[in-house]
Parts: sequence; structure tokens; C-alpha cells
Amino acid sequence: MTNDRSDATDDSHATDAADPLAWARDHMPVLASFADEYGETEPFDGYTVAVASHLESNTGVLIETVRAAGAEVLFAPSEPQSTHGDVVEALDSVEGITAFAEEGMSDEAFDEAQHALLEREPDFVLDDGCELIAKVHAEHPDVAEQVLGGGEQTTAGVTRLEAMDEEGVLEFPVYGVNDTPMKHFFDNVHGTGESSLTNVAISTNSIISGKTVVVAGYGYCGRGVARKARGMGAQTVVTEVDPRQALEAHMDGHRVTNMGEAAAEGDLFVTTTGNRDVLRREHFEAMSDGAMLANSGHFDVEIVVDDLEAMAESISHPKEGVTRYHLPEGRRLDLLAEGRLVNLTGPYSQGHPAEVMDTTFAMMFVAAHDMLTADERLSPGVYAIPDRLDRAVADRKLDTLDVTIDQLTERQREYYDDWEHADSSF
Ligand code: NAI
Repeated sequence: MTNDRSDATDDSHATDAADPLAWARDHMPVLASFADEYGETEPFDGYTVAVASHLESNTGVLIETVRAAGAEVLFAPSEPQSTHGDVVEALDSVEGITAFAEEGMSDEAFDEAQHALLEREPDFVLDDGCELIAKVHAEHPDVAEQVLGGGEQTTAGVTRLEAMDEEGVLEFPVYGVNDTPMKHFFDNVHGTGESSLTNVAISTNSIISGKTVVVAGYGYCGRGVARKARGMGAQTVVTEVDPRQALEAHMDGHRVTNMGEAAAEGDLFVTTTGNRDVLRREHFEAMSDGAMLANSGHFDVEIVVDDLEAMAESISHPKEGVTRYHLPEGRRLDLLAEGRLVNLTGPYSQGHPAEVMDTTFAMMFVAAHDMLTADERLSPGVYAIPDRLDRAVADRKLDTLDVTIDQLTERQREYYDDWEHADSSF
């Protein structure tokens, strides 16, 4: 019998460590199609684009793609603990890309890096959590006046932007990329859902199946976490403050109750509210020994760590990424990733899978492309991405997946447009 693979050299234990972006690049075909399409025409030539995000390989591919389209790119973290040093190093070595980041930065160094970036006066800002946009307005107003526009990828960031807009302080137009269907239906639901549970399971070497998983918040992220936890065999409990979201969770088959009750029931708690103080002293007092606490909301304020510290007799670290609070009556509560985003800042975290970040970052790229190449500038404010651009990215993604869909016939189009449905021949 011949071995038809005998010519290939295969060291199956080696990875291509020289290029930390290679794997993500292979799994982000929509961004690759932008790099191909705009690599020659360079529509961003002459512009400086700032990117603040979790600095892992998927973000690296966005940064490369913006650079391929001709921009000078400056990048900084949006969270001090989610930076992958090898990715920063690889990007920083590319001409036209400058890093304001390193792995394991303190909160102070993170803050200083963002200021240093803003002092380079970017023309456009692609943001995560409204980090750079809030800072440029609060502390570099002269730079803010010159910025042409921005895009914001998270729920938390869009909420902050809307507050700025309402106060009348926003100096430039920003696309609320989070709110476009091609972002939140996939990234928030499937990306956060899967990557949060994956990281909880890996960090604790525990099984989700059979656990009682309490999910705080039944928005896009909470839906993803709760549905996937149930799919893995967990009993799911949802807490909410919005009656419609609570009803949806109930109709989806989850048990819905308030956190006061859920606290005593949960083996694993995942907060996904974008709000603060969701798990606090009164809840910690009711929790069982060994309960695990994880946060997937953007900021590390959903679980009140100060309360855990105040209640604990001692604190230990039984595993990397797990902080154990020993309470006086012998109960132990395990906090994952210090209450920061569990899917992005835990010891094994790689963020969302590249396939899902492909469409999120495609929408960020489209936000920059649409504003920077428009004939007319939008006035300051928060804008929805035009639906035609959202559909175009969906079409590209389906193409890369080799999925075909039907097209409306002429008669179907006319039927949609005819509100009277008067002609029976329709
Ligand atoms: P969303 O607005 O769709 O959902 C949040 C839900 O939490 C709402 O239904 C709200 O009623 C509920 N809520 C608010 N306060 C609550 C409380 N005290 N108790 C229970 N429920 C409460 O927002 P989305 O898109 O689900 O995002 C949630 C958070 O996750 C945001 O901070 C967002 O930035 C972040 N996020 C994190 C990602 C990750 O990779 N971990 C990815 C995408 C978003």
C-alpha cells in the first residue's frame, strides 16, 4: 500500500508560533475579502484610524485589514487584562501600525497608553466600551473636534454614547455597530454564549451539564449563555429587571425568579447585564458552598468584589484565574477572572471564536469605510449602520459558507409593495 502523503513534512506537535494571527486569518474570510478588495485602491490612505479593543488575534486581523485598506493604524487595549503580548508584538512590527499596549498592563499604564494614542490625533476611532471616545471628549477636546467619526462595537459603549449624545457633548458622528443585526445576533448571542461557558469549564475543569446555572440578564448575551447552558444539560435560572425580557426567558423555558431566591439555588452564576452590583453581599450570604461566580458583562462592576473581600476570613487561589473567598461559616465562593469578562480575561481566554468576530469586525470595517468615503459628513450623533451595508456583509458571509438563499421574484416584490393587495392576480 502506498502512502500518498509521503512527500509532505508534518511536525504535528509544532505550531506556527512565528505568526500568532495565522489561525484567526484563516477563519475570517469576510475580512480577507475586504483586504483583497481594498488592498489596491486603499480608500483609507491619508487617514489615521485608532482601534481600541481586546488585543487578541481576531482584533489583530481587523487591524491588519484596516492597514491593508491604506490607513495608518494606532491601537490600544479596551481592557487591561485581555492583551496577548505575541499579537501586540507581531502587529507593532508592521510598518504603519503602532501599538500602545503590552500584556499585563496595570490600570494606570492602560490609561496612560490610551492618552498617548489620542495625542497622535486619530481621524477615526473604532472603539470597544466607548473607552477612547469618552476619553477624547473628556480630556483631549481639541483632538475630539478634529475626529471625523467613529464606530462602537459593544452594548455598554453604545449606552455611554447615547448618554453623551443626549447631553449634547458628542463632537462627531458614531455608528452604533453593536446595534446592527450582523453584530448582536451573532457576536453577543453565540460568541458570548459559547465562549463564556467554554472559559468557565476550562478555567475550573468542571462540567456544565447537571449544574444549576443562574444567568443575570436576558438580553442578547444572557440569551446566548442561558440557551447554550441548557443545551449542555444545565438547569437554567434567569433573573431580569425588564418584564418583557423576563417573559421571553419564561416562554423560552427557563425558570425565572429574582436574584434573592436564585442565589441559594445556583452552582454557577453568570452576569450579563451591563449594569452594576448585580451580585452583592445579600446574595453572597445566601449562596451554597462552592458556588462559582463569573461575569460576561463589559465592566467588572457586575459582581461586587469589595463585598466578597469584606465578608471573607481569608482568600486563596486554588487554580489560575480562580479567587476563592473563605467565608466565616466555612462556605467557599469561587470568583473567576477577578470578576472581569470571563471569556476574555481568564487564563485560557481567546475571546470569541474567529468565525463570529469575522462579522463583528466586518461591520466595524464597514462603519469606517462608509464614513471615511462618504461625499457628505454626518453631523455629530449616534447612528444606525444603514441596512444595505448590514445585508451586504451577511451576503458575503453566506458566500464564504457556500450557503445559497432564494431571491424575491418580481411578483413577490410587487406583492410586498402593494399595500391594498387589490389585484387578485397577485
Ligand atoms: P442587553 O441590553 O441586550 O441585555 C442586558 C439585559 O440585562 C437587559 O435585558 C436588562 O433588562 C438586564 N438587566 C439590567 N440590569 C439587570 C439586573 N440588575 N438584574 C438582572 N437583569 C438586568 O445587552 P447585551 O448585548 O446582552 O450585553 C450585556 C453586557 O455584555 C454589556 O455590558 C455588553 O457590553 C457586554 N458584552 C460582552 C461581550 C463579551 O464578550 N463578554 C460581548 C458583547 C457584549
